[in-house]
Amino acid sequence: MRISLGFLVLALASSSYAIPNKGAYQVKEEVNVPRGWVKHAEAPADHTITLRIGLPQPNFNVLEKHLYEVSDPEHERYGSHLSKEEVEELIAPHSESLDAVNNWLSSHGLQETDLVRSPAKDWVTIRVPVAFAEKMLDTKYNVWKHTASGDTLVRTTSWSLPKELHQHVDVIQPTTMFGRLRSAKSTIVWGDDEAEARVAANAKTSVEASTGATISANGREVDASCDKVITIKCLQQLYNAVGYTPKKTTKSTIGIPGYLEEYANIQDLQSFFAEQRPDALNSTFKFIGIKGGENPQNLTLSGAEAALDVQFAFGLSYPIPGTYYQTASRPPFQPDVRTPTNTNEAYVDWLDFVLAQKDTPLTISTSYGDDEQTVPKSYAIRACAGFAQLGARGVSLMFSSGDYGVGDNNPDPATQECFTNDGKNTTRFIPVFPSSCPYVTSIGGTQGVPEVAVSRFGSGGGFSDYFPRPLYQFAAVQKYINALPKDHYKGLYNKAGRAFPDVAAQGDRYRIYLKGVPRSIGGTSASSPTFAGFVALLNDARLSAGKPPLGFLNPLLYSSVVERAGALNDITSGSNPGCGTPGFNATEGWDPVTGLGTPNFGKLKDIVLRGY
Ligand SMILES: *[C@@H]1O[C@H](CO)[C@@H](O)[C@H](O)[C@H]1NC(C)=O
Ligand SMILES: *[C@@H]1O[C@H](CO)[C@@H](O)[C@H](O)[C@H]1NC(C)=O
Ligand SMILES: *[C@@H]1O[C@H](CO)[C@@H](O)[C@H](O)[C@H]1NC(C)=O
Ligand SMILES: *[C@@H]1O[C@H](CO)[C@@H](O)[C@H](O)[C@H]1NC(C)=O
Repeated sequence: MRISLGFLVLALASSSYAIPNKGAYQVKEEVNVPRGWVKHAEAPADHTITLRIGLPQPNFNVLEKHLYEVSDPEHERYGSHLSKEEVEELIAPHSESLDAVNNWLSSHGLQETDLVRSPAKDWVTIRVPVAFAEKMLDTKYNVWKHTASGDTLVRTTSWSLPKELHQHVDVIQPTTMFGRLRSAKSTIVWGDDEAEARVAANAKTSVEASTGATISANGREVDASCDKVITIKCLQQLYNAVGYTPKKTTKSTIGIPGYLEEYANIQDLQSFFAEQRPDALNSTFKFIGIKGGENPQNLTLSGAEAALDVQFAFGLSYPIPGTYYQTASRPPFQPDVRTPTNTNEAYVDWLDFVLAQKDTPLTISTSYGDDEQTVPKSYAIRACAGFAQLGARGVSLMFSSGDYGVGDNNPDPATQECFTNDGKNTTRFIPVFPSSCPYVTSIGGTQGVPEVAVSRFGSGGGFSDYFPRPLYQFAAVQKYINALPKDHYKGLYNKAGRAFPDVAAQGDRYRIYLKGVPRSIGGTSASSPTFAGFVALLNDARLSAGKPPLGFLNPLLYSSVVERAGALNDITSGSNPGCGTPGFNATEGWDPVTGLGTPNFGKLKDIVLRGY
């Protein structure tokens, strides 16, 4: 091994760390390759990867305590969010960990100028050729191919570190991360063919004629057309927000992260505004590209997920300022063995960027997710800890709960393959990450008037295999579990896990503009920006009254204050089939299909404007 001068200097300064030598290496992480991936070729030695090294955050439990206190409406510190600097102090690694990792990096000839550090120094990133990473991690990278999609990744199934470094490193990626990020958008119902175009045309008539008949929902009158076509007006009626006008429009802010070449087209947004939100016409959003992410305005590139997200989130919350992020997650060319797609680490790339900003949108909705078991646990824990940091700073984070019921990424519940990836290949429901992270708000889907659980696809829901059930939902979830028949779905889910979704909103038959024409689209991808739109309005109400923003929502949503007021409409009918089972049932109270229910904006507004 070549020992650099830098290492010698550091080694003299800090003699407590032995020279890492190959003999002292021990396996740090080992995974089974998720179903659907096959070994394709050896990784080219000169292929460059960006290795992200996560150092332990020894005071994370203190940060978590702050998060729960400032998010609990019954606590005296409710709303006293932490500053960026206070959060960074609480997640900073121990100096011993910094020294140990620095020594190891310099022993491989890397200098401070080769490193990129996060503001809290809890992440360090290096760009190195595969052969170099293989030496550092005593491993062998391969190119893996996802048979169904043709996607390729450079990954390993096992990597090592010098024994004495194990306690100073939480996670290194890309190594074992085989996740396949996907949007939670269900199929577009109205396609390009003639018969479908006719349906779209009829729907347009019903949008225009929607002032006619009304039907009753949650004690309010809703246009009869809302049973078939969801518009901004339908959502305002259903969720008791008719007539609310935001006041301090520059204080409350709303953001939509986008991935996977989902481009938000401004012309489509204007067509949507012209039809559904004429007062918002000519308004637009701020665009922020991350890691080279762009937002080309060629209409043919307008993305369905992006269109749905920006049209409904910004349409519901207008004139609250909106931001669309695009994080580049793949190189802009066809991957081959020499240039494999390299990153599926979208959330952490986005978190890196946002956590480093002083100001971030106060309400953020993300309509993407992964099968939890394809995200290595160490990585999921770190990403989840990043969401907690945003929550502590006063940001409300919403994620769609997924579109496959209790099952995996396969639209047909009958043929879903729900097997564990732990080498035992046992049958198991498949939870969705980041919805399974206890520090975010997970949004399930409903449909129709009156509302029932969405049935054209299954509202994602269930129980995390990684994260334990947090206190704020303990009673609500226990009540549901206690009411199940004994040994119901025994072994298929983790009764003690973080249960999701937390709440729900309409999830089907949304009318959007896509590539210049109206389309109907569904998915919990629709539910999340919708819920977020109302949260941005609640923040506006609070900020206008001189109160702090809502921040992490769950302790409020599960509180007795909200329950007593009936500020969430309990959804008690429908289910979320998957894995060849009927899935869970929506029931009275919380359930793993629609959570606590859909928002009653008027009642929630009264609650958040009270004394807290
Ligand atoms: C939008 O811009 C067009 C063209 O400049 C203008 O005619 C129209 O009045 C504007 N609409 C609104 C609501 O500002
Ligand atoms: C828009 O993109 C499509 C597909 O990439 C291309 O065929 C077309 O020429 C582009 N149009 C413009 C105006 O750039
Ligand atoms: C797992 O079990 C299922 C059903 O028993 C079987 O179809 C599948 O091939 C198995 N997969 C592996 C990787 O053993
Ligand atoms: C779920 O609902 C269906 C239909 O109402 C019912 O047959 C089934 O017994 C319910 N399952 C449980 C576990 O309660």
